[in-house]
Amino acid sequence: MNEKIRKDFPLLERQDNGKKIIYFDNAATSLKPLSVIKAVNEYNSTGTANIHRGVHKLSEETSILYEKAHDKTAEFFGAKKEEFVFTKNATEAINSVMYSLLTSDFFTKGDKILLSEMEHHANLVPWQLLEKKGLAELEFVKLNEDFTLNMQDFEEKLDSKTKLVALTHASNTIATINPIKEIGKMAKDNNSLFLVDGAQSAPHMEINFPKLNADFFAFAGHKMLGPSGTGGLIAKKELLEKFNPFLFGGSMIHSVKLHESTWNKIPWKFEAGTPNISGMIGLGKAVEYLKEIGMDKIRDHEKELTRYALEKVAEIASIKVYNPKNEEKQVGILLFEAKGIEAHDLAITLDEFSNIAVRSGMHCAEPLVSSLNPKGLDRASFYLYNTKEEIDEFAQALKTITKSFL
Ligand SMILES: Cc1ncc(COP(=O)(O)O)c(C=O)c1O
Repeated sequence: MNEKIRKDFPLLERQDNGKKIIYFDNAATSLKPLSVIKAVNEYNSTGTANIHRGVHKLSEETSILYEKAHDKTAEFFGAKKEEFVFTKNATEAINSVMYSLLTSDFFTKGDKILLSEMEHHANLVPWQLLEKKGLAELEFVKLNEDFTLNMQDFEEKLDSKTKLVALTHASNTIATINPIKEIGKMAKDNNSLFLVDGAQSAPHMEINFPKLNADFFAFAGHKMLGPSGTGGLIAKKELLEKFNPFLFGGSMIHSVKLHESTWNKIPWKFEAGTPNISGMIGLGKAVEYLKEIGMDKIRDHEKELTRYALEKVAEIASIKVYNPKNEEKQVGILLFEAKGIEAHDLAITLDEFSNIAVRSGMHCAEPLVSSLNPKGLDRASFYLYNTKEEIDEFAQALKTITKSFL
């Protein structure tokens, strides 16, 4: 990765107190390249219209741009056009599956949903609703000492009552990459549906939906260079056809009478109301950008950064890292603490003195993070535009701060 890429991201030019920003909060949301910013601006300045409604040229032009973005993003994930639904984020994608299964009476008392101990709240809290309703019991696959998923525990817990397996592809905290294809095969052999939370994998590695052995794949467009308010759900065609939609109203209908309605064809059955039009057009540009660079190249670059960062922080005795510590088994996230310094204090100090943005706290994964440190942890997360020089500055800042807190 080179300077040319960095020039595409205007935020990297920003200076505060004469110092450039080091953006290490990519797991929360990514920066946006100029092509995405331009596409959003064009919609808002000279291309504003609603889609799939008007017959005037503005509406027709915008509908074409929106559908092109739809097709391009589906293709990016190796998904068929009708399998692909835009949502506002990964959370909405997972919730939409939960509500569709709920209103389609998929679960009956005694069923089980198998999750893991490393799930983000987005892939935990929605399922708790089903448990509260007495429709399904939640079970959690344990982790090994090295923060990988305990596959023996997975096999033991996957049984005839398991109607759904819902797992993260890559953790937003410990960074572990789970063996999704293998898990998907086991879920399929067990006749369980399989949902993959791809919020932390889709931005960083090649995803080919048919090869994952998954029924549902949720992702966050805003974490993969797309605008805020973008994400999506990919689902097997027969499931989208079979299950009820999540949201009801305009656009998702075929015909409406006062007491009953019929649904539009998929995927539009799952996109009710006016979508985030400019955002999705921007997301189309984001996947174009990622594709042009190449997902394998991005993954290789991040593996190199991860290895380098792990080595650098290992030199600081007061820093403890909670990751597999192996770039092959994890994405570019460092979850850490500094002995004697509270997580938020360290993040504030990194920000104020070194212009380094990291996240601190529970990271929307409270059950896991609070078990590691009840006061929370810090997280540095990398993306294609980050560099080893930035990691050097980060390690130096950690050394200075940890010394001064002693
Ligand atoms: C693993 C994981 N799942 C789901 C989400 C939720 O994503 P969103 O904020 O786009 O809804 C996140 C966000 O951080 C995440 O890291």
